[in-house]
Amino acid sequence: METMTGDFVRIFDTTLRDGEQSPGATMNTGEKLTIARQLEVLGVDVIEAGFAASSEGDFDAIRQVAAAVREPVVLSLSRTRGPDIERALAAVAGAARPGLHVFIATSDIHLRHKLMMTREQVVEAAVWAVERARQHVDHVEFSAEDASRSDPDFLCEIFAAVIAAGATVCNVPDTTGYAIPEQTTALFRRLRTGIPGGDRGVWSAHCHNDLGMAVANSLAAVAGGARQVECTVNGIGERAGNTSLEEVVMALRTRHDVFGVDTHVRAEHIFAASRLLSQVTGIAVPINKPIVGDNAFAHEAGIHQDGVLKYKLTYEIMRPEDIGRATNTLVLGKHSGRHAFVDRLRSLGLFHDELDVNEAFAAFKALADRKKSVYDEDLVAIVARKSSHVAERYELAGFECASTSEGPPRARVRLRIAGQEIEQEASGDGVIDATYAAIGQALASVGDHVPALDRFDVKSITRGADALGEVSCLVREEGRVALGQASHTDIIQASAAAYVAALNKLAWLRAHRPGEDDPHGP
Ligand code: KIV
Ligand code: ZN
Repeated sequence: METMTGDFVRIFDTTLRDGEQSPGATMNTGEKLTIARQLEVLGVDVIEAGFAASSEGDFDAIRQVAAAVREPVVLSLSRTRGPDIERALAAVAGAARPGLHVFIATSDIHLRHKLMMTREQVVEAAVWAVERARQHVDHVEFSAEDASRSDPDFLCEIFAAVIAAGATVCNVPDTTGYAIPEQTTALFRRLRTGIPGGDRGVWSAHCHNDLGMAVANSLAAVAGGARQVECTVNGIGERAGNTSLEEVVMALRTRHDVFGVDTHVRAEHIFAASRLLSQVTGIAVPINKPIVGDNAFAHEAGIHQDGVLKYKLTYEIMRPEDIGRATNTLVLGKHSGRHAFVDRLRSLGLFHDELDVNEAFAAFKALADRKKSVYDEDLVAIVARKSSHVAERYELAGFECASTSEGPPRARVRLRIAGQEIEQEASGDGVIDATYAAIGQALASVGDHVPALDRFDVKSITRGADALGEVSCLVREEGRVALGQASHTDIIQASAAAYVAALNKLAWLRAHRPGEDDPHGP
């Protein structure tokens, strides 16, 4: 296996693969590229860009991410099947540092009820796949899915076999979020010391958060010798999510006295990455989320405020600026020039070669005309909005709405559907309800299916009376879910735009992910 120089823990980011499995988190290729570029700026070591065999859309996104980033290794997930491996290899072929991530389940539950395979057959499939992958790429990671519920003796056997076959990284997933930190440390120690060649290579932890212990288990794995942690920005992922990148990075940094290891992550770009992902996916960051939540550095109790004013370290173990949360957040206004705008984007890590600066600057000017103060979060919203380069089926051409004491609120909406403008009027329980009803009627008038609206959230993302309101809504149809998100100083406009964004995502999903292959299937 590979040996790492210095005592570094690799950060393997799977926001674009495992993270994307969060309900509604599907990203189109433009959005994935935007996130991948931000991950490179952030300094992650490995980007798992998708699961190439699952769909054309995923294949294409991996291919484009592979071409766009230079520093991190770019991986595709792959089952141990020949066609999966061929597809994954083709997807990463253009990467500066390509790699494959091959996995198969190892727990008896999975073998008996999902794979219908014996242990011998599983070892044979794993070895075959690792050998096949190693004929083409130097970086091959092997994962034993459901490792935390697998027989440790069998884990020793299969990891020894894949190491001999050429696996360069061995990953030990806690697929169901079942592990307990003490057991995790012990398991990593046993694997590293009990397997021929196990003490030389890179051991990796991949934890899910079902019992709220993903970060604790990842740190416990590091204590047991893991030198790669797999995680997602904001901890997004299936069910309760994955290990949160920002939490694990800041825990390793803040408690260097305990762990004694570093990462290559440039922590000052954490906040922008967190907000960018939230804007792109529409998944809000909980206000009390460690490190990146709105309240993560807010001191409310008088005694705390008093202490912090006297000496910050009385109640602060990290500084907001360590993760790029500017204390002086008023950055730009309507008189700011292009230079100041680009400068601020650069320091947030949001500037890259592919960004259309003229377009982004025009959006900034339009916002600064409506709003006195433009904050970092506003700039993130501008970049996120510019990231979805897909031809969209629906476009909001205009709307009008009225709420009076004389009758029900009404809305008139003009929607362009595949280029044809349609006008509809409707009433509702409130102006937003009326606007959504009018949009639904426009869809129905051209025979488009109107999905169910499952969730609708509004919050303010910046301060003051002219704050940007952020709306996210989730629509659902036949097993597909799509999240739309938009921000505007006018909350009705943000609501209409978020609904249209969700409808566009759903239309994209229908076209690009018709019947996706499940990575956890046999
Ligand atoms: O949780 C899991 O087991 C996975 C593997 C595919 C690594 O995501
Ligand atoms: Zn996972």
